[in-house]
Amino acid sequence: MSTEVRVWDPLVRIFHWTLVVSFIATYLSGDEIEWLHTNAGYIILGLLCIRIVWGIIGSQYARFSDFVYSPAIVKAYLKDLFKLQATRYLGHNPAGGYMVVTMMILLLLTTLSGMTLYGIDEGEGPFSNLHTASHFWEEVFEEIHEFFSNLTLLMVFIHILGVMLSSALHNENLTRAMASGKKSVSGNGGDE
Ligand code: HEM
Repeated sequence: MSTEVRVWDPLVRIFHWTLVVSFIATYLSGDEIEWLHTNAGYIILGLLCIRIVWGIIGSQYARFSDFVYSPAIVKAYLKDLFKLQATRYLGHNPAGGYMVVTMMILLLLTTLSGMTLYGIDEGEGPFSNLHTASHFWEEVFEEIHEFFSNLTLLMVFIHILGVMLSSALHNENLTRAMASGKKSVSGNGGDE
């Protein structure tokens, strides 16, 4: 038996799985089911705002200061990862930490460009006053919103691959840890 510690607090876990559901809902609804697309988008924005504050005042492993490492450390980590010799971290590893921040920034840019487009196109939402903008700006924001949503999707795929690789490398189930919040101290998930 190995000792388990709580790494992910309830806020991080609720944030993560609500984000997953909301992201799937916004991506699949697109411009077909507008009420679902916009409301799931608002939920994502709300989740991000809460998570950013929690990244400053939250529990140990939830803080940005715990998982945003210097570029040199990230580079060294990636080098070791390619040799399949990466060190195990209880919180986000250095590459994972950068990916978390990248996904958060891309999700922010996607939601903000979406809200801008909604204002221009439909005269709805917090930027409804932009309804008077020309067709040119509608097309520009349509492109921007689509670009960021597709880039986010690409990062999500890389994120999931990273989770699978890291889980395999350290013989642990990181997805289960994001559900239960707990990880084994020793790192050998076989006897968890
Ligand atoms: C079913 C698919 C997914 C699985 C299995 C999964 C799994 C995980 C795991 C295991 C972690 C913790 C990584 C670690 O141990 O360092 C994590 C973190 C994270 N994931 Fe996912 N993920 C999924 C989908 C997504 C999606 C769709 C998004 C974004 C739209 C996302 C965004 C994030 C973020 C932002 C974090 C950091 C959580 C935090 O620190 O608050 N994930 N994910």
